Amino acid sequence: MSLKFAVLISGGGTNLQALIDAVEDGIIPAKIAVVISDREGAFGIERAKRHGIASYVVTRNTFGNASERDEKLLEILKSHDVDFVMLAGYLSILTKNVVKNYEKRIINIHPALIPKYSGKGFYGDVIHEAVLKNKDRQTGVTLHFVDSGVDSGPIIIQERIPVFEVDTLDSLKARIHTTEHRLIVETAKNFCEGGLQ
Ligand code: GRF
Repeated sequence: MSLKFAVLISGGGTNLQALIDAVEDGIIPAKIAVVISDREGAFGIERAKRHGIASYVVTRNTFGNASERDEKLLEILKSHDVDFVMLAGYLSILTKNVVKNYEKRIINIHPALIPKYSGKGFYGDVIHEAVLKNKDRQTGVTLHFVDSGVDSGPIIIQERIPVFEVDTLDSLKARIHTTEHRLIVETAKNFCEGGLQ
């Protein structure tokens, strides 16, 4: 029986789309059982619906605090019988309870070369703006297992991406996204095939 996974998102979900396409094309030997967003109005939820994937919005506001939100999250993950979880642009920090239940089975994608620009407060445009402001010549993408810290779990793969003088926030983000879409698929596939320790 093939593995089932959940994809957690907060926004547009282009990484989610890459995963959906790869599953539908038979590249990732698994099924996306559920998509969960921690934000209302995340376009990724629409993508899930278009592909007939169960989806939920589980915000902290609805549940009052992170621990109650994650109780609900856990309940959904269990009810869909998921084997592993991909964080694809998920901005909330998971509580220890979730991490403990899926030890070495939650993978996060981070748009920087960890440990650079990682940890609390480093997400999304904040990272890319810092890269441009500091005139870094390279940035990158990291996929790592999630532990109880923030962006601190064991690194699975990192790939460098050049930064050009003419880059704008949009051009840099587009280049990073292209790499992310390839690496997130490769990583999910490797996980399913037992290639990640
Ligand atoms: C990605 O760059 C991801 O690494 C970051 O947030 C972005 C999400 O993009 N954490 P998308 O929603 O998958 O398009």
